[in-house]
Amino acid sequence: MPTAAIITGASRGLGRALAIALADEGWDLLLDARTETDLDAVVSRLKTVTNVWAVPGDVADPQHRRDLAEAAAEVAPIGLLVNNASTLGPSPLPRLEDADVADFAEVLSVNVVSPLAIFQAIRPHLSLDAIVMNITSDAAVEPYEGWGLYGASKAALDHLSAVMAVEHPELRVYALDPGDMRTDMHQRAFPGEDISDRPLPEEVVPKILEVIRRRPPSGRIIAPQLKAVS
Ligand SMILES: NC(=O)c1ccc[n+]([C@@H]2O[C@H](COP(=O)([O-])OP(=O)(O)OC[C@H]3O[C@@H](n4cnc5c(N)ncnc54)[C@H](OP(=O)(O)O)[C@@H]3O)[C@@H](O)[C@H]2O)c1
Repeated sequence: MPTAAIITGASRGLGRALAIALADEGWDLLLDARTETDLDAVVSRLKTVTNVWAVPGDVADPQHRRDLAEAAAEVAPIGLLVNNASTLGPSPLPRLEDADVADFAEVLSVNVVSPLAIFQAIRPHLSLDAIVMNITSDAAVEPYEGWGLYGASKAALDHLSAVMAVEHPELRVYALDPGDMRTDMHQRAFPGEDISDRPLPEEVVPKILEVIRRRPPSGRIIAPQLKAVS
């Protein structure tokens, strides 16, 4: 039964598409993103459908994470935490020898440290059988040239997810790779290139909903390999 879900990075791209679909399924929603106006636009769209709250801020900011936890306490129990907010790092993507290690530190902070810190902050408000879904990438396992910073961060997120699953057998913990999607992040990865052949995030969302409904055992899930049941 849907309860309340937290989705980080819900103002556009996959996070927004998932928020819209979960609202239709009856989930209450707690949404974040840094750009308040964009987040408010999503909330305005959804508030006639479900209970929805915006907590604008940066997942890497400890005060914002405390604000999220405070809001979570109000709507608990949280049945679903989707750590979706992420950064690609610099664009164009640098080869490792040219990469600025300060950029790497920022990528790790947003893509690895923040999902763990949010899990820790939200943990007391999760339902007993909650789903934690950490959004990963094929770049976590494939050594694409230029993708070293982002890919290493997603590989670390995969490992955190796997350990989290072992430490919390009562939960479902997924590292979910949504596959390529036509979003701002993907365009930044391929600046100036035509990405119109990539699927929209709305096309992967039914597969994610199916995972949420079916609750397979914890693990790494590659969404493009799943069949969508609508
Ligand atoms: N697109 C792809 O092809 C692809 C492929 C594999 C995996 N993924 C993964 O899928 C997820 C969604 O990606 P997407 O393509 O939908 O990205 P996107 O279109 O760039 O959207 C990212 C969302 O996250 C928010 N965000 C970014 N940094 C944030 C921060 N520090 N704190 C809070 N919110 C933040 C953005 O809003 P603000 O900028 O206003 O904060 C926006 O709402 C990511 O985890 C990504 O790594 C994407």
